[in-house]
Amino acid sequence: MRLLGKVAIVTGAGSGLGRAIAHRLAQQGASIVVADINEPGGHQTISELASQNAKGHFLRMDVANQESTIRGMKEVVEAHGRIDILVNNAGVTRHRPFMTLNSEDWDVVLAVDLKGVFFCAQAVAPHMIAQRSGKIINISSISGTGASSHAVGGSQGGNANYAAAKAGVIQLTKTLAREFGPHGINVNSVAPGFVLTAMTGTTRSPEEVKEHVAVRSASAVLGRPGTPEDVANAVLFFASDESSFVTGQTLYVDGGRTDRM
Ligand SMILES: NC(=O)c1ccc[n+]([C@@H]2O[C@H](COP(=O)([O-])OP(=O)(O)OC[C@H]3O[C@@H](n4cnc5c(N)ncnc54)[C@H](O)[C@@H]3O)[C@@H](O)[C@H]2O)c1
Repeated sequence: MRLLGKVAIVTGAGSGLGRAIAHRLAQQGASIVVADINEPGGHQTISELASQNAKGHFLRMDVANQESTIRGMKEVVEAHGRIDILVNNAGVTRHRPFMTLNSEDWDVVLAVDLKGVFFCAQAVAPHMIAQRSGKIINISSISGTGASSHAVGGSQGGNANYAAAKAGVIQLTKTLAREFGPHGINVNSVAPGFVLTAMTGTTRSPEEVKEHVAVRSASAVLGRPGTPEDVANAVLFFASDESSFVTGQTLYVDGGRTDRM
């Protein structure tokens, strides 16, 4: 077991990639804190973990609310005595053509996807600094580097707000790696390509989702969409001691997306 005795917080673990990450880290012995605003989804993850004799508990934490993140991290330290791993995974989308994007679409996506990483990292840092160890893994996206068209493949929308947030996550990863490295904290990012989750249908109809899956699968060199487990395996690498000399990096888990290369 690569994470025996470790305490891991996974934000947004009540669904999709976060749930798969929670499972993968738990399989390697970590105690998981499922931090989400989605209580039914979070409890579902916890009961799945329990059925596999893994350890976990739900924490209601809104990553876009600074007080909530500070309180949440404090509660975890009070309960477990430490925090070894933080996976900043919570995210939302509001894909729309740029000229129809309004201020609220911008603010919601930036608040959760970028400011949420800032708040969680700042709230966890004092605890990791006191321990002189920690792993922070930020979930970015291929949208943080490439500028693939979102007006094709069953989607009418653009993703300027999301792309800006995810590009910010990649750069935030590098700057935090520099600041936290002297304290024994590694900060890395995983940038997934297309993976079918609840998020895929946020601003798409079921027909558009189908078309989107086909187009995105075809634009990957490996010719298939990713799975939540593909992403979780990369997170496990950054969470484990096997990556102890790796920091400030972004690992693309995208099947070789030609529109990013
Ligand atoms: N699915 C993909 O193709 C894909 C590709 C690249 C990157 N990503 C990124 O992966 C991450 C997970 O996405 P997913 O596809 O699993 O989406 P999802 O919608 O299935 O899950 C997102 C989770 O985040 C939670 N969340 C939303 N706002 C929150 C908040 N303010 N505080 C706490 N939790 C909050 C939701 O409740 C949900 O449980 C996101 O950061 C997303 O941008 C996804």
